[in-house]
Amino acid sequence: MTNQDPIIQERTERTQWFLQDRFGMFIHWGLYAIPARGEWVRSVERISVEDYQTYYDEFDPVRYDPKAWARAAKQAGMKYAVLTAKHHDGFCLFDSALTTYKSTNTRAGRDLVREFLEAFRAEGLKVGLYYSLIDWHHEDYPAYGDRIHPMRNEESFVRNPETFDRYLQYMHGQVKELLTNYGKLDVMWFDFSYDNMKGETWKATELMAMIRSLQPHIIVDNRLDASGEEGGSIFTNNPLSYSGDFASPEQIIPPQGVTDHEGNPIPWEACITLNNNWGYAAQDFQYKSPTTVIRKLVECVSKNGNLLLNVGPNALGEIPKETLDILAEIGDWIQKNGNSIYGCGQADWPKPEWGRYTQKGNLLYAHLFEESVGPINLNGLAGKVKKARLLSDGSELFLNRPWSAAQYPDDAFVSLARPEHFSYPLPDKRATVVELELL
Ligand code: GLC
Repeated sequence: MTNQDPIIQERTERTQWFLQDRFGMFIHWGLYAIPARGEWVRSVERISVEDYQTYYDEFDPVRYDPKAWARAAKQAGMKYAVLTAKHHDGFCLFDSALTTYKSTNTRAGRDLVREFLEAFRAEGLKVGLYYSLIDWHHEDYPAYGDRIHPMRNEESFVRNPETFDRYLQYMHGQVKELLTNYGKLDVMWFDFSYDNMKGETWKATELMAMIRSLQPHIIVDNRLDASGEEGGSIFTNNPLSYSGDFASPEQIIPPQGVTDHEGNPIPWEACITLNNNWGYAAQDFQYKSPTTVIRKLVECVSKNGNLLLNVGPNALGEIPKETLDILAEIGDWIQKNGNSIYGCGQADWPKPEWGRYTQKGNLLYAHLFEESVGPINLNGLAGKVKKARLLSDGSELFLNRPWSAAQYPDDAFVSLARPEHFSYPLPDKRATVVELELL
């Protein structure tokens, strides 16, 4: 049943490109790249504003080259990118008129957001900005007694709740600046609601109305109404005006994909770090392999979702070499197999044993993660497949059922070479993609 709710209908319209593009780059960058212990370092180590000021005074990313970032993202097959305009530490990477705590006032003297947007648009990528609802620098944001503020245990940081409204004016004002002064944005990525700090505490109805009036096409995540571990009203069939356009599972790929409470699919995007930190962490070498990332991208698409893969540039403005090497290999795979990702979604067939399916119309893509003994089983697809091709080079594959598969008349089988009863190694160990044209 098509839900008539206008919020759902508009969400469906706005997210058409998002469901097509499937793969984006998340970029977490700011002062925290200098301590290089992740973007929560101020909270985790309870660093005072004064001590954190050291990093502000020092910040000078002399090697910042957003054009190089954009080329790396494009080559990796990413179709959109989201940069932190302001993270929880309150430091603004853009020239806000509402604060002096911004990149244009540091030694950098640059509007880092503007350069990012121009560079990524020039490479043909859609662009988005992450904006933290949380602000550990702003004097009117709750501090003492807050669950995560760096000064949560400091009685001198008791704040008068009456002044929180001043913070909301600031926050709404900055969102307006971003949506007014930087051209067309495709994604607004808020982070995050928690405890009573959600929804109308942020004056979310008013904020979303402003967003929709300034850039009606823009898509917004669900975190005005939720956090990384909950979903908010986007999961209901009567979503609030600020429920957002996509769900944002974090550091996990939803085991069953993402649907609303009635089982209707909703747009979703898993945001995942490449190592274990969003912000640059100099000693975090726990990188996921290119094969892992490729297979997780396939998994997201096989469940009707997107993957937003994070990079954390260092204090000098460089994406770490380990990251660039992984992105380059992902790009090599996607350059050959992108048709099985872009515009694809969940298949009409259950997950096979040897890997995953994605589908686009009558093209079913078999992503082979493990080799088969003999022909590759296509469970339940007997008489349903017109032809099979190796996606990476267009070469013919073979659908003849060999004697060894005679006992499985309901299944189709595909062989990578002849004779069909032989076993063949996968041409691409990362994921070999077979394009199956369905009858
Ligand atoms: C969590 C973290 C935040 C990060 C975000 C990315 O909310 O608090 O640091 O930016 O995840 O989704």
